Amino acid sequence: MSKFLFLFGNTPQLSLLELDTVYPELKSKVFVGGELDGRLALVEMDKEELKEKDFLNRLGGLVKIFQVEKILDFDSSLTELKNAVLECLISKSQQPHFSFYQKGKGQKAINHGQIKDLLKEKGYRSRYFKGSLDGSAFALHQESSQEIFLYHSLEGIFLSSLIAVQDIDDWTKRDRAKPYFNRKKGMLPPKVARMLVNIASGMWLAEDGQRSIKEAKVFDPFCGTGTILIEALQLGSQVYGADLDEQAVWGTRENLEWFANAYQVESQNFAKQIFMADVGQLSQEKLGDQKIDLLITEPFLGRQTPKEAELANIFKGLEKLYLGAFNNFSKILNPGAKIGIIFPKVVAEHQVFSLDHLIDKLNTKGYNLLVPPLLYARSGARVQREVYFFTFN
Ligand SMILES: C[S@@+](CC[C@H](N)C(=O)[O-])C[C@H]1O[C@@H](n2cnc3c(N)ncnc32)[C@H](O)[C@@H]1O
Repeated sequence: MSKFLFLFGNTPQLSLLELDTVYPELKSKVFVGGELDGRLALVEMDKEELKEKDFLNRLGGLVKIFQVEKILDFDSSLTELKNAVLECLISKSQQPHFSFYQKGKGQKAINHGQIKDLLKEKGYRSRYFKGSLDGSAFALHQESSQEIFLYHSLEGIFLSSLIAVQDIDDWTKRDRAKPYFNRKKGMLPPKVARMLVNIASGMWLAEDGQRSIKEAKVFDPFCGTGTILIEALQLGSQVYGADLDEQAVWGTRENLEWFANAYQVESQNFAKQIFMADVGQLSQEKLGDQKIDLLITEPFLGRQTPKEAELANIFKGLEKLYLGAFNNFSKILNPGAKIGIIFPKVVAEHQVFSLDHLIDKLNTKGYNLLVPPLLYARSGARVQREVYFFTFN
């Protein structure tokens, strides 16, 4: 067994839930508190398992994987730390190219200059390149390069080296290269969409070992530009979408077709499966005889920059929209269906506006909350988003 550090992006709670639902057999332990609060998990497994699982292509919330080379005592001296880094570097190359960064270091800061000097003193030539925890990973493009990360936790100091990184260009392509987009209405980042699909489907799959992701029928009743459906299509599920806006319907069909071509996944009958409908009028008819297994959606969340005086009215309207939507969802869902849905929340000067109080009402309608709501806040956004996962009975 080897030890690895998994680094999550900026939605660590969602990312951890994603890891745990997609790979329930893994034992992960997340570090809480300190500089990287919740963003780093220690995972133990065989190297073969790491390769097979293809974590970085599957998960939306995972950014980097480091292999733990050594765990040093919490109170190791600076000299011990520098020597450990040196040993790690020269064990892989006699002329190391390296990048180095530290987190949680407190008084124990060492820097690349000191490591370079030590290497020189011992007769090794080296080259340093600047890297950072959240930066791109130069190290993986050259064989003799290493990106060393020292993480100081209460359980010890983890000396680790980078072994894999998320393909940022690919995620950017899915976000920016699709033919139809509408920034005004707000689009979900593809990574968040992937996390929602992974979590809801993971919960659904866990209930019955015979199920497969390919047979899951996934529906987004507020599909917008189809971000969520694209992620579900990539996993091979049957995708269905609706929107009140005709342009969004055309755009989603076009985006799905583009995605199927660009990523060589099987196309589906999008002209039929993506249709125009007001969620308040949703009925089984449009879906033919298909019932839905996974309903994953980011509904209309109200105006993006509401004034405080308008909020009470806006939330009244949203409450009506959400309750009407859930009433209709029950007509099209299979028993045991999972729902991943975003609720809006605004923290105003004098009051917090949210739809949390709907939970009890929804409970009486057969929707049971599966995990406590998870905040997904976009930096600077006035309307925050909370992700809710329900099961439908
Ligand atoms: C926040 S956007 C969804 C964006 C989508 N997640 C994406 O990434 O492109 C909400 C969508 O809900 C649609 N919508 C608003 N009210 C609706 C209603 N009553 N029924 C169906 N769709 C509605 C809007 O046209 C808009 O496309």
